[in-house]
Amino acid sequence: MIQVINVSKRFLHNIVLDGVSLEVRDGETVALLGPSGVGKSVLLKHINGLMKPDAGDVIVDGLSVPRLKRKEIQQLRSKIGYVFQYGALFDSMSVYENIRLGITDETCANDDGYCNDRVKECLRLVNLAPDVAEKYPAELSGGMKKRVGIARAIAGAPKYLLYDEPTSGLDPVNADVIDALIERLRDELGVTSVVVSHDVRGSFRVADRVALLWQAKIRADGTPEQVLASQDAAVQQFLERDLEMGLIQAEGEARAKRGA
Ligand SMILES: Nc1ncnc2c1ncn2[C@@H]1O[C@H](COP(=O)(O)OP(=O)(O)O)[C@@H](O)[C@H]1O
Ligand SMILES: [Mg+2]
Repeated sequence: MIQVINVSKRFLHNIVLDGVSLEVRDGETVALLGPSGVGKSVLLKHINGLMKPDAGDVIVDGLSVPRLKRKEIQQLRSKIGYVFQYGALFDSMSVYENIRLGITDETCANDDGYCNDRVKECLRLVNLAPDVAEKYPAELSGGMKKRVGIARAIAGAPKYLLYDEPTSGLDPVNADVIDALIERLRDELGVTSVVVSHDVRGSFRVADRVALLWQAKIRADGTPEQVLASQDAAVQQFLERDLEMGLIQAEGEARAKRGA
Protein backbone atom coordinates (compact mmCIF):
# COMPACT_ATOMS: atom_id res chain seq x y z
CA MET A 1 0.00 0.00 0.00
CA ILE A 2 1.07 3.58 -0.66
CA GLN A 3 -0.03 6.31 1.72
CA VAL A 4 0.75 9.95 1.15
CA ILE A 5 -0.21 11.69 4.37
CA ASN A 6 -0.62 15.44 4.56
CA VAL A 7 2.46 16.10 2.46
CA SER A 8 3.62 19.66 1.87
CA LYS A 9 6.43 20.69 -0.44
CA ARG A 10 7.63 24.08 -1.61
CA PHE A 11 10.50 25.33 -3.73
CA LEU A 12 11.37 28.81 -2.42
CA HIS A 13 8.07 30.70 -2.80
CA ASN A 14 6.45 28.08 -5.00
CA ILE A 15 4.10 26.01 -2.84
CA VAL A 16 3.65 22.87 -4.93
CA LEU A 17 1.97 20.50 -2.45
CA ASP A 18 -0.07 21.83 0.44
CA GLY A 19 -1.29 19.07 2.74
CA VAL A 20 -1.77 16.43 0.07
CA SER A 21 -3.08 12.99 1.08
CA LEU A 22 -3.55 10.03 -1.23
CA GLU A 23 -3.93 6.33 -0.63
CA VAL A 24 -3.30 3.51 -3.10
CA ARG A 25 -4.40 0.13 -1.83
CA ASP A 26 -2.69 -3.11 -2.82
CA GLY A 27 -3.51 -4.16 -6.37
CA GLU A 28 -5.19 -0.87 -7.14
CA THR A 29 -4.45 1.54 -9.99
CA VAL A 30 -4.91 5.20 -9.15
CA ALA A 31 -4.73 7.89 -11.81
CA LEU A 32 -3.28 11.18 -10.65
CA LEU A 33 -4.59 13.93 -12.88
CA GLY A 34 -3.89 17.63 -13.00
CA PRO A 35 -2.81 20.43 -15.27
CA SER A 36 0.77 20.72 -16.45
CA GLY A 37 3.13 22.07 -13.78
CA VAL A 38 0.77 21.39 -10.87
CA GLY A 39 3.12 18.96 -9.08
CA LYS A 40 2.23 15.47 -10.28
CA SER A 41 5.84 14.45 -10.93
CA VAL A 42 6.89 16.01 -7.64
CA LEU A 43 4.34 13.86 -5.84
CA LEU A 44 5.55 10.69 -7.61
CA LYS A 45 9.14 11.48 -6.61
CA HIS A 46 8.05 11.57 -2.97
CA ILE A 47 6.76 8.01 -3.30
CA ASN A 48 10.11 6.51 -4.31
CA GLY A 49 12.16 8.82 -2.12
CA LEU A 50 13.67 11.01 -4.85
CA MET A 51 12.24 13.99 -2.96
CA LYS A 52 11.57 14.60 0.72
CA PRO A 53 8.47 16.37 2.02
CA ASP A 54 8.80 19.56 4.08
CA ALA A 55 5.97 18.19 6.23
CA GLY A 56 3.86 15.07 6.30
CA ASP A 57 4.77 11.46 5.65
CA VAL A 58 4.87 8.92 2.85
CA ILE A 59 4.39 5.27 3.73
CA VAL A 60 5.22 2.62 1.13
CA ASP A 61 5.07 -1.07 1.96
CA GLY A 62 4.77 -0.15 5.65
CA LEU A 63 7.92 2.01 5.64
CA SER A 64 8.15 5.75 6.17
CA VAL A 65 10.07 6.78 3.04
CA PRO A 66 11.44 10.14 4.30
CA ARG A 67 12.97 8.39 7.32
CA LEU A 68 14.78 5.67 5.39
CA LYS A 69 18.56 5.58 5.17
CA ARG A 70 20.20 5.52 1.76
CA LYS A 71 20.63 1.73 1.76
CA GLU A 72 17.02 1.17 2.84
CA ILE A 73 15.76 3.52 0.12
CA GLN A 74 17.69 1.46 -2.44
CA GLN A 75 16.02 -1.68 -1.13
CA LEU A 76 12.60 -0.08 -1.33
CA ARG A 77 13.29 1.24 -4.84
CA SER A 78 13.95 -2.28 -6.04
CA LYS A 79 10.25 -2.90 -5.34
CA ILE A 80 9.15 0.20 -7.24
CA GLY A 81 9.23 0.37 -11.03
CA TYR A 82 9.38 3.94 -12.34
CA VAL A 83 8.31 4.74 -15.89
CA PHE A 84 9.91 8.07 -16.66
CA GLN A 85 8.03 10.77 -18.53
CA TYR A 86 10.47 10.96 -21.42
CA GLY A 87 11.34 7.28 -21.48
CA ALA A 88 14.86 8.02 -20.29
CA LEU A 89 16.37 5.25 -22.39
CA PHE A 90 20.12 5.27 -22.91
CA ASP A 91 20.70 5.88 -26.62
CA SER A 92 24.10 4.22 -26.67
CA MET A 93 22.68 0.99 -25.28
CA SER A 94 20.60 -1.63 -27.04
CA VAL A 95 17.04 -2.31 -25.95
CA TYR A 96 18.34 -5.48 -24.29
CA GLU A 97 20.86 -3.53 -22.22
CA ASN A 98 18.31 -0.85 -21.34
CA ILE A 99 15.83 -3.42 -20.03
CA ARG A 100 18.55 -5.36 -18.22
CA LEU A 101 19.32 -2.21 -16.20
CA GLY A 102 15.92 -2.64 -14.58
CA ILE A 103 16.92 -5.94 -12.99
CA THR A 104 17.75 -4.67 -9.54
CA ASP A 105 18.52 -7.84 -7.60
CA GLU A 106 22.31 -8.12 -7.65
CA THR A 107 22.50 -11.90 -7.95
CA CYS A 108 19.98 -11.91 -10.81
CA ALA A 109 21.61 -8.92 -12.53
CA ASN A 110 24.92 -10.80 -12.77
CA ASP A 111 23.34 -13.99 -14.09
CA ASP A 112 23.38 -13.82 -17.92
CA GLY A 113 20.99 -16.74 -18.32
CA TYR A 114 18.48 -15.20 -15.93
CA CYS A 115 18.78 -11.79 -17.62
CA ASN A 116 18.27 -13.19 -21.13
CA ASP A 117 15.08 -14.95 -20.03
CA ARG A 118 13.85 -11.98 -18.03
CA VAL A 119 14.39 -9.46 -20.85
CA LYS A 120 12.55 -11.78 -23.23
CA GLU A 121 9.68 -12.14 -20.77
CA CYS A 122 9.45 -8.37 -20.25
CA LEU A 123 9.37 -7.75 -24.01
CA ARG A 124 6.53 -10.26 -24.23
CA LEU A 125 4.65 -8.52 -21.41
CA VAL A 126 4.78 -5.20 -23.29
CA ASN A 127 3.85 -6.81 -26.64
CA LEU A 128 7.20 -6.37 -28.34
CA ALA A 129 8.83 -9.03 -30.52
CA PRO A 130 11.99 -10.71 -29.14
CA ASP A 131 14.16 -9.26 -31.96
CA VAL A 132 13.50 -5.72 -30.70
CA ALA A 133 16.10 -6.54 -28.03
CA GLU A 134 18.90 -6.03 -30.59
CA LYS A 135 17.69 -2.59 -31.70
CA TYR A 136 18.78 0.81 -30.42
CA PRO A 137 16.36 3.45 -29.10
CA ALA A 138 16.91 5.66 -32.18
CA GLU A 139 15.44 2.89 -34.36
CA LEU A 140 12.16 2.76 -32.40
CA SER A 141 8.89 4.66 -32.77
CA GLY A 142 7.62 6.80 -29.89
CA GLY A 143 5.14 4.13 -28.80
CA MET A 144 7.80 1.42 -28.85
CA LYS A 145 10.15 3.57 -26.76
CA LYS A 146 7.44 3.99 -24.15
CA ARG A 147 6.94 0.23 -24.08
CA VAL A 148 10.67 -0.38 -23.63
CA GLY A 149 10.57 2.11 -20.74
CA ILE A 150 7.77 0.06 -19.20
CA ALA A 151 9.65 -3.20 -19.85
CA ARG A 152 12.62 -1.78 -17.96
CA ALA A 153 10.37 -0.68 -15.09
CA ILE A 154 8.93 -4.18 -14.68
CA ALA A 155 12.21 -6.06 -15.19
CA GLY A 156 12.91 -6.11 -11.45
CA ALA A 157 9.47 -7.69 -10.80
CA PRO A 158 8.31 -4.68 -8.78
CA LYS A 159 5.35 -4.66 -6.45
CA TYR A 160 4.63 -1.04 -7.29
CA LEU A 161 4.65 0.77 -10.62
CA LEU A 162 4.77 4.54 -10.97
CA TYR A 163 4.00 5.80 -14.45
CA ASP A 164 4.82 9.42 -15.25
CA GLU A 165 2.75 10.46 -18.29
CA PRO A 166 3.06 7.11 -20.07
CA THR A 167 0.96 8.24 -23.04
CA SER A 168 2.16 11.81 -23.49
CA GLY A 169 3.27 12.60 -27.02
CA LEU A 170 1.54 9.54 -28.48
CA ASP A 171 -1.28 9.55 -31.01
CA PRO A 172 -4.63 8.19 -29.73
CA VAL A 173 -4.09 4.71 -31.20
CA ASN A 174 -0.70 4.24 -29.54
CA ALA A 175 -2.00 5.83 -26.34
CA ASP A 176 -4.75 3.19 -26.28
CA VAL A 177 -2.13 0.46 -26.69
CA ILE A 178 -0.27 1.75 -23.63
CA ASP A 179 -3.49 2.09 -21.61
CA ALA A 180 -4.41 -1.50 -22.43
CA LEU A 181 -0.93 -2.52 -21.37
CA ILE A 182 -1.27 -0.76 -18.01
CA GLU A 183 -4.51 -2.67 -17.41
CA ARG A 184 -2.94 -5.95 -18.41
CA LEU A 185 0.10 -5.50 -16.17
CA ARG A 186 -2.19 -4.79 -13.25
CA ASP A 187 -4.16 -7.98 -13.93
CA GLU A 188 -1.24 -10.20 -14.91
CA LEU A 189 1.35 -9.00 -12.37
CA GLY A 190 -1.01 -7.79 -9.63
CA VAL A 191 0.99 -4.57 -9.27
CA THR A 192 -0.13 -1.51 -7.33
CA SER A 193 0.15 1.51 -9.62
CA VAL A 194 -0.02 5.25 -9.80
CA VAL A 195 -0.51 6.62 -13.30
CA VAL A 196 0.23 10.31 -13.64
CA SER A 197 -1.51 11.85 -16.58
CA HIS A 198 -3.19 14.86 -18.02
CA ASP A 199 -5.15 12.63 -20.38
CA VAL A 200 -8.58 12.32 -18.78
CA ARG A 201 -10.02 9.79 -21.21
CA GLY A 202 -7.17 7.29 -20.91
CA SER A 203 -6.89 7.57 -17.14
CA PHE A 204 -10.58 7.01 -16.65
CA ARG A 205 -10.20 3.83 -18.58
CA VAL A 206 -7.28 2.36 -16.63
CA ALA A 207 -7.95 3.61 -13.12
CA ASP A 208 -9.85 2.08 -10.24
CA ARG A 209 -9.70 5.51 -8.65
CA VAL A 210 -8.93 8.98 -9.89
CA ALA A 211 -7.42 11.87 -7.93
CA LEU A 212 -7.21 15.41 -9.22
CA LEU A 213 -4.34 17.61 -8.07
CA TRP A 214 -5.34 21.24 -8.37
CA GLN A 215 -3.65 24.30 -6.92
CA ALA A 216 -1.45 22.30 -4.53
CA LYS A 217 -4.33 20.23 -3.12
CA ILE A 218 -6.24 17.07 -3.94
CA ARG A 219 -9.45 18.54 -5.26
CA ALA A 220 -11.23 15.29 -6.10
CA ASP A 221 -10.64 11.64 -5.20
CA GLY A 222 -12.96 8.79 -6.06
CA THR A 223 -14.00 6.25 -8.66
CA PRO A 224 -14.07 7.57 -12.24
CA GLU A 225 -17.88 7.71 -11.99
CA GLN A 226 -17.78 9.70 -8.75
CA VAL A 227 -15.25 12.18 -10.10
CA LEU A 228 -17.20 12.62 -13.35
CA ALA A 229 -20.34 13.34 -11.32
CA SER A 230 -18.56 15.90 -9.12
CA GLN A 231 -20.42 19.18 -8.74
CA ASP A 232 -17.17 21.03 -8.01
CA ALA A 233 -16.74 23.72 -10.67
CA ALA A 234 -12.94 23.38 -10.71
CA VAL A 235 -13.20 19.62 -11.28
CA GLN A 236 -15.74 20.04 -14.05
CA GLN A 237 -13.65 22.76 -15.65
CA PHE A 238 -10.59 20.52 -15.71
CA LEU A 239 -12.46 17.50 -17.07
CA GLU A 240 -14.29 19.45 -19.75
CA ARG A 241 -11.25 21.34 -20.93
CA ASP A 242 -9.35 18.10 -21.29
CA LEU A 243 -12.13 16.19 -23.00
CA GLU A 244 -12.55 19.12 -25.39
CA MET A 245 -8.84 19.14 -26.14
CA GLY A 246 -9.06 15.41 -26.85
CA LEU A 247 -11.88 16.03 -29.32
CA ILE A 248 -10.04 18.88 -31.01
CA GLN A 249 -6.97 16.68 -31.31
CA ALA A 250 -8.98 13.79 -32.76
CA GLU A 251 -10.61 16.15 -35.27
CA GLY A 252 -7.26 17.54 -36.31
CA GLU A 253 -5.89 14.07 -36.87
CA ALA A 254 -8.93 13.02 -38.88
CA ARG A 255 -8.51 16.13 -41.02
CA ALA A 256 -4.78 15.41 -41.50
CA LYS A 257 -5.65 11.88 -42.57
CA ARG A 258 -8.11 13.17 -45.15
CA GLY A 259 -5.24 15.31 -46.41
CA ALA A 260 -7.13 18.57 -45.82
N1 LIG B 1 13.74 20.27 -8.38
C1 LIG B 1 12.93 21.34 -8.44
N2 LIG B 1 13.34 22.55 -8.02
C2 LIG B 1 12.53 23.60 -8.08
N3 LIG B 1 11.27 23.59 -8.54
C3 LIG B 1 10.80 22.41 -8.97
C4 LIG B 1 11.60 21.22 -8.96
N4 LIG B 1 10.86 20.20 -9.45
C5 LIG B 1 9.67 20.72 -9.77
N5 LIG B 1 9.61 22.04 -9.48
C6 LIG B 1 8.44 22.93 -9.67
O1 LIG B 1 7.33 22.28 -9.09
C7 LIG B 1 6.16 22.52 -9.86
C8 LIG B 1 5.51 21.20 -10.23
O2 LIG B 1 6.32 20.52 -11.16
P1 LIG B 1 5.97 19.08 -11.70
O3 LIG B 1 5.71 18.15 -10.58
O4 LIG B 1 7.05 18.70 -12.64
O5 LIG B 1 4.60 19.35 -12.50
P2 LIG B 1 3.73 18.30 -13.34
O6 LIG B 1 2.39 18.27 -12.69
O7 LIG B 1 3.63 18.86 -14.73
O8 LIG B 1 4.42 16.98 -13.30
C9 LIG B 1 6.59 23.35 -11.04
O9 LIG B 1 6.31 24.70 -10.75
C10 LIG B 1 8.08 23.12 -11.12
O10 LIG B 1 8.73 24.24 -11.65
MG1 LIG C 1 5.35 15.89 -14.79
